[in-house]
Amino acid sequence: MPKKLFIKTYGCQMNAYDSQRMMDVMAPHGFEPADSAENADLVILNTCHIREKAAEKVYSDLGRIRDIKRERGPAGAEMMVAVAGCVAQAEGDEILRRAPVVNMVFGPQAYHRLPEMLARAQRFNARGGRERPVDTDFAASEKFDALPESQQAPGVAAFLSVQEGCDKFCTYCVVPYTRGAEYSRPVAPILAEARRLVARGVREITLLGQNVNAYHGDGGADGKTCSLGQLIWRLAEIDGLARIRYTTSYPGEMDDDLISAHAEVEPLMPYLHLPVQSGSDRILDVMNRRHTVEFYLRLVERIRRARPGMALSSDFIVGFPGETDDEFKETLQLVRQVGFASAFSFKFSARPGTPAATMDGQVPEALKSERLLALQALLDTQRRAFNSGCVGRTLPVLFEKPGRHAGQITGRSPYLQPVFAEGDTALIGRIVRTQIIDAGSNSLHGNLHLQAKAAE
Ligand code: SAH
Ligand code: SF4
Ligand code: F3S
Repeated sequence: MPKKLFIKTYGCQMNAYDSQRMMDVMAPHGFEPADSAENADLVILNTCHIREKAAEKVYSDLGRIRDIKRERGPAGAEMMVAVAGCVAQAEGDEILRRAPVVNMVFGPQAYHRLPEMLARAQRFNARGGRERPVDTDFAASEKFDALPESQQAPGVAAFLSVQEGCDKFCTYCVVPYTRGAEYSRPVAPILAEARRLVARGVREITLLGQNVNAYHGDGGADGKTCSLGQLIWRLAEIDGLARIRYTTSYPGEMDDDLISAHAEVEPLMPYLHLPVQSGSDRILDVMNRRHTVEFYLRLVERIRRARPGMALSSDFIVGFPGETDDEFKETLQLVRQVGFASAFSFKFSARPGTPAATMDGQVPEALKSERLLALQALLDTQRRAFNSGCVGRTLPVLFEKPGRHAGQITGRSPYLQPVFAEGDTALIGRIVRTQIIDAGSNSLHGNLHLQAKAAE
């Protein structure tokens, strides 16, 4: 009988990609996906450490899993529980102390060793021993090389990790500690993985990296390394790959290659997530972001010159230690100047081990909430304006799956907006010119019929 594996994914797209790959690693060992922890033989929590809330959620979920195990009696005793991802990397065996239900802990660079770790954990478990494996070694290259080919149906839009880790050390951020030093995969295995995805029906690939535009993989011309812009050119040559995206970018790493790729590579979508974090030069400096407001504004100008109509998105942190009212207002000012199509914004969360956690001038929670509300109101207005600006336009939509209601299909516009329309599921996997007839705050409503009429 096949065994059931349930993976819960928290955090960013890198984790979503990693969860898929863990499924791939376990499939040859007789595991198939389960849709809940209730009947699973192995439960993996692929965790996120970026903010306190994300990390604490893991412990409340572990409490629920402990109850499920108990209720299942003897079958529950054999159910194995693993904590993977960034909380695992950051807390290591501390997790075993806080949550005795956990059988094994492993970091983001260790999941190719999962089968042997599981076998070890099962031996300990059967003997009723208290030993439990912990693997938080760093070596991203080894991990990528050791992955089996995926046997799962990838869908229409897929993620592909090209870079991992970060050397930037923004003073608030745990990623350099949980994901390790920057590492770029060589070009050849990336192209091979992309071709395999396209052969299995993928039309859109999003290149992933914590710092994706710092990509510099082996395999460029003349034995040189290849930049992200050059990699995008190579990917664009793959027949059948209609759309390319990448995330997340660091402003200081947007080089000329990449900006000109936006002007010249047709499949590269006119949407860019480019986190700025703050609109105050003083705060940016204490954040160690290594860019100024002026630099960011100029960069946006260059990008928009290269690709008119480019939609921008960003991340913001409010209530960074020492942030004054005026400095916060500078962030609002920057938002007004740029005009974002979408954005994520967060209250500063003090993360253990990062310099910002112990800086003077920690901002009270209530003030952080107030600033977050004000910023989100402004960003929301901009998102709605961007969405309503699409009404009446005809946009190419890549349809990805059936919609929530019968007879509906949903997909994405070039600007990553979800679009739903009445249409035949035969259109899934195709890019269809779609007349946008309505806009909500988070999605667009398209009409394929009108479009077909216009074409008659
Ligand atoms: N590599 C990306 C972002 C990674 S984390 C970049 O360079 O921008 C995603 C977002 O989480 C960040 O952009 C930041 O806005 C937010 N974030 C990171 N650490 C945080 C913290 N300690 N408190 C609040 N938000 C944080
Ligand atoms: Fe974190 Fe991004 Fe800064 Fe790296 S560049 S430290 S991932 S916020
Ligand atoms: Fe979270 Fe780790 Fe991603 S901390 S945001 S899962 S890199």
